Amino acid sequence: MGSPLKSLVHDDDRYQRSFHLFLERSSEHQCMRDFIHSKLPDILSSIGDGKSHLNVIGVGSGAGEIDLEMLNELHKKHPGVTVDNEVVEPSSQQLHNYKVLVSQKPELNYIKFTWNKMTASEFEERWKLSETTKKADFIHMIQMLYYVKDPGATISFFQSLLDKNGKLLIILVSGESGWGKLWRKYRHELCNTEISQCVTTGDIKSLLDSKGVSYHSFDLPSQMDITECFTEGDEKGELLLDFLTEVLDFNKTASPELKDGVLELLRHPDCSMESEGRVIFNNNLGVIVIDKPN
Ligand SMILES: C[S@@+](CC[C@H](N)C(=O)[O-])C[C@H]1O[C@@H](n2cnc3c(N)ncnc32)[C@H](O)[C@@H]1O
Repeated sequence: MGSPLKSLVHDDDRYQRSFHLFLERSSEHQCMRDFIHSKLPDILSSIGDGKSHLNVIGVGSGAGEIDLEMLNELHKKHPGVTVDNEVVEPSSQQLHNYKVLVSQKPELNYIKFTWNKMTASEFEERWKLSETTKKADFIHMIQMLYYVKDPGATISFFQSLLDKNGKLLIILVSGESGWGKLWRKYRHELCNTEISQCVTTGDIKSLLDSKGVSYHSFDLPSQMDITECFTEGDEKGELLLDFLTEVLDFNKTASPELKDGVLELLRHPDCSMESEGRVIFNNNLGVIVIDKPN
């Protein structure tokens, strides 16, 4: 049964504000940057098979900050190569922010950006209708598989687009993070499976294992300061709580029992630690890298 609570995804403005605050309160992007500078270069070194032109697809790119960091590493590994970068992003606000970022960086003139204001499934539909034989060398979906109806099918489709030596990179919260614990207990109350899945890298690994798909994985330690969530009436705390639960106006619309249960679990040692009067939520992420299918 779907949750009677309204998903945060229905209100793009509030979703983007809560995501922005989450980025401010967490080491989310910093831990991704650490991975991009330490591990990603080796992963990218083998793609392309010596070609002078590379095709990249970013799915759920947001404002593009992380995409541009990855494209920079790609450029360092393959200097002199031109890049066709398809951006798949349904939020017009985020797409606009990404375009602004690109316009401030003339050095990116080796990249041709194609802006697809659409969801992953709309992109898939359009790709299939076009009957193109184009293949991709690097595809990434960072913190977006929560928002597709069938994460397994989405992975299979994008994996099928990979060219020889191509790589598909997925980042999601880890099954052992506070998110994983929250969802194990409150999946049915919080996740409307029509539009959002409480999926972790643990779930994706089990799925890939069951299909016999091989992959490489990495852990990215990360934290999030959720102290404000525990101050009744705190506007920022409410925004963060919406992001944590994926529920629009969670504080105002959830039943008192659900609210109490979620708040109790959020500060429980399973999900968070207390340090210098702050409540620090375990935001650990996982990376999964998949090759072209055999
Ligand atoms: C948590 S944000 C991550 C943004 C970016 N990848 C990052 O890590 O900073 C999720 C992004 O996925 C986008 N999104 C939501 N539903 C989507 C869908 N069905 N297909 C593709 N992207 C989607 C959202 O608009 C948002 O920009």
